[in-house]
Amino acid sequence: MKPFLSIFILFISFISSGQSFTLPELRFSYDAYEQGIDAKTMEIHHSKHHQGYVRKLNKAVSESKLENKSLEDLMMYASYRTRSVRNNAGGHYNHTLFWEILTPTIENSSPGIINNNLERAINKSFGSMENLRKELSNAAAKRFGSGWAWLVVTPNKELVVSSSPNQDNPIMDVSDVRGIPILGIDVWEHAYYLRYQNKRGDYLSAIWSLLDWGVVSKKYAAALNNPLLVKIEKENWPEINAFHKVLAQTFHAAEKGDFKPIRALSGSLYAKAILLQDADIPKPLMNPEVSLALIRLEKKCFSLNKLIVKNAKDKSLMKMISAVHDVFHEVQGLCHD
Ligand SMILES: [Fe+2]
Repeated sequence: MKPFLSIFILFISFISSGQSFTLPELRFSYDAYEQGIDAKTMEIHHSKHHQGYVRKLNKAVSESKLENKSLEDLMMYASYRTRSVRNNAGGHYNHTLFWEILTPTIENSSPGIINNNLERAINKSFGSMENLRKELSNAAAKRFGSGWAWLVVTPNKELVVSSSPNQDNPIMDVSDVRGIPILGIDVWEHAYYLRYQNKRGDYLSAIWSLLDWGVVSKKYAAALNNPLLVKIEKENWPEINAFHKVLAQTFHAAEKGDFKPIRALSGSLYAKAILLQDADIPKPLMNPEVSLALIRLEKKCFSLNKLIVKNAKDKSLMKMISAVHDVFHEVQGLCHD
């Protein structure tokens, strides 16, 4: 093989070894959306802001060694990611969705119309399209600072309107409302400032006239059958995340011989175990074995806290925190079978 060919193959295998996110093309030219959004705003928004999220996401993912994770996975566990991964994964996902659902009313754009299934679901949840428009506009108008307004399919397959700050979205474990967004409205000033300045309400009216309900209908059908929806339901258990955070801070330090964190946080760990045992278990995980394991977890945390109150030796603490850790993994094992 010729040397330059070997170098070329080596280079290709190197650049394709980790995933790399890329900026999606817009469906139409920048000036096609003029009716609602001016060409300059579209150009800067897409080629500078969205491109910036993509560039910073690739950097953040590489720095965190998360190249093997999907975009959805990066967002699902946002609370465990760096701020840069969280912001830029959301920035990339949210804008990709935004471009997909916008269509200009120009020749050959043929905006799709809403299908029966989505229309029925909207009428069931909101009463009418007009009510949905009001709720979405209200959520977008009230979002303080920068963020997004969403139409979301929840794990129980209902439609709800929500909003989130910055580049968060409902897929993320940090979101109050969880589910798969099928429509998102960008309410960062960069989305509208050139034409509308501070008049966010005027921008929201204009956006409504650019929505492609054919695309939103397809997204609704896809979301209902997306395994991610079941995953979100299983993972929508804030009490177990809260417990896990304190356990991770204390157990790993103890393993390395540092017992200060567990001596300081055993009360907090016990309190989180009580809250976890009292909390509603996500529907797909509900079974008696999980409930019994949570009772055992609370008892172990109680014993651990008692040892710390009695100022027990490190060796006894290690034994007990390991028992807590084992029961926690038993719970996780039961949840992922
Ligand atoms: Fe934006």
